[in-house]
Amino acid sequence: MGKLIYKSLPDMSKARNRVDNPKVIFDEVKVGPHLAKFAKGKKYVIKTFGCQANVRDEEILSGYLEKAGFIKTDNDREADLAIINTCAVRENAEEKVYGEIGKFKVNKTNNKDFILCVCGCMMQEEGSADYIMKTYPHVSLVFGTHNVNKILDLLEEKIARNKKLVDVYSFAGDVIENLPSVRLDSYKAYVNITYGCDKFCTYCIVPYTRGRERSRKLEEIVNECKELVAKGYQEITLLGQNVNSYGKDFHDGTNFSKVLEEVAKLGIPRLRFMTSHPWDFSNDMLEIIAKYPNIMKCIHLPVQSGSTSVLRLMGRRYSREEYLDLVDRIRKTIPGVALTTDIIVGFPNETEEEFEDTLTLCEKVQYDSAFTFIYSPRKGTPAAKMIDNVSDKEKHDRFVRLVKVIEDGVSKHAESMVGKTYKVLVDGPSKKDKGVLSGYTESSKLVNFKGPSFLKGHIVNVYINESHTYSLIGTLLDDPILVLASSLKEKIEKEDSYIRYIECKNAFESSSFLKQLKEEMEEKQKQLVNKSFKTDEDLLPLKKEIDELKKAYFNDPVYLNLQSSIADLSSLLEQIKDNLE
Ligand code: SAH
Ligand code: SF4
Ligand code: F3S
Repeated sequence: MGKLIYKSLPDMSKARNRVDNPKVIFDEVKVGPHLAKFAKGKKYVIKTFGCQANVRDEEILSGYLEKAGFIKTDNDREADLAIINTCAVRENAEEKVYGEIGKFKVNKTNNKDFILCVCGCMMQEEGSADYIMKTYPHVSLVFGTHNVNKILDLLEEKIARNKKLVDVYSFAGDVIENLPSVRLDSYKAYVNITYGCDKFCTYCIVPYTRGRERSRKLEEIVNECKELVAKGYQEITLLGQNVNSYGKDFHDGTNFSKVLEEVAKLGIPRLRFMTSHPWDFSNDMLEIIAKYPNIMKCIHLPVQSGSTSVLRLMGRRYSREEYLDLVDRIRKTIPGVALTTDIIVGFPNETEEEFEDTLTLCEKVQYDSAFTFIYSPRKGTPAAKMIDNVSDKEKHDRFVRLVKVIEDGVSKHAESMVGKTYKVLVDGPSKKDKGVLSGYTESSKLVNFKGPSFLKGHIVNVYINESHTYSLIGTLLDDPILVLASSLKEKIEKEDSYIRYIECKNAFESSSFLKQLKEEMEEKQKQLVNKSFKTDEDLLPLKKEIDELKKAYFNDPVYLNLQSSIADLSSLLEQIKDNLE
């Protein structure tokens, strides 16, 4: 086992730094010679914890690994390389990570070349990397959230020097473009629009683990989305810790509404965004959401607490009243909107009255769904230094009471959907029953219904028969074969060979030269028939003339192009047919 080298370690005070201007860096994928040799035919697995930012990082890591030659596997035990992509937002997220690291010990025992990497937000915390290297000797490489794009260089160095490496930047706030990626889904996608967070809510570790807030250029976002639309994606979710503070770092007035509008205009069937912060929620944004039917009428609006005094201590920058006003404004501008939220119970010194404020707020808002968490102190954050007089038991009891109130509201929404028809984007067969499909409505409600698995990735109409708190049971209204046929039509229309066929057909139909040749040919053929009783001498020159015309017609480049494009299109249709069989 190689020696351990610390290239860099995180420092929370440096992570607070917000000074530099972000630079845009266009990355180039380079595979070192040792890595190329190692990766050939080897299998990898990535285990991701935490939020969508980590899921997107997993896709980018996969992009790099596959460029190097690694192949993905679903079987953890046959992996030659494993990456554990960690989350630090609450203590229980961290405990799961240690369990996962432990499980990969057997890979190292069976395969001395096995490489275990640990990355993600937890690695950005002081002491984590060191603890992991000391406790788990089978971990070979640790890196952080700011050097995901250095994965191939780190692996090359690790293999070439036969050393274990730790490289976690404390502060890096550039925007890296040109990132390779292998998306986990072929019909719904996450697109980063901002990285990091500058809000510094007092309980939260994210601003330290993900760095300063920085926006991607609108052009880069639009190009990525355009590509997804061209590939037939059905849903895009724009991602950021605070999507609606997009563009603040440009100081030129570019804002989130502009991103929403530009992406909506590309015609993606479903456009979502997460997470929006109540403090940055503008009227502009509301108007754009209301204006475009393909922007889903579903807003995740974390409240965290219903008490103004707790909100102040949390550093959330809005009061209970301001939040409720915003909810009113949203509901007035976007009728039928679904609202979801995040709530923390048991913030240090939260009183019974303050907690009850959260309960009454939830009763008022009637969320469609909510993520509820018990406060978890995060080392290095201001709230972790607050003296806390609320017992664990009290926190737990409040949590149970809150969940009850939330579930009442959620159930009411679910019940109100029974007897109506909703559009559902199908995720595929449900985990519990392969004969049942599951998918989400525009308002992000989970629906289960019977249907064939080939509907995965399609949007279908489902009638709701029955409701449970967190899911609905429905009946598919569309004919599955017709859904498939119409989606194939849309896909074929985007294929190069189809586009070429249409171009060639148009050129053929509008060629006056070919039209003239054809008319002449037909005219001469008529004469041939009329002269059929005369001698061969009369017929031969006429036949020759017709042959000349035919030669010119069938050898004309416009005609030949059309024939070859018909052949290309036929082979594309054959391929589709083979895939369906
Ligand atoms: N940027 C997003 C999400 C951040 S993390 C936002 O601002 O909404 C997701 C959720 O985890 C937060 O909304 C919050 O409810 C919860 N969370 C964050 N830190 C926490 C902590 N220390 N203890 C418990 N829950 C926490
Ligand atoms: Fe954390 Fe607050 Fe930033 Fe969300 S807005 S990531 S809760 S600091
Ligand atoms: Fe967790 Fe990092 Fe996301 S701490 S919630 S994975 S930004």
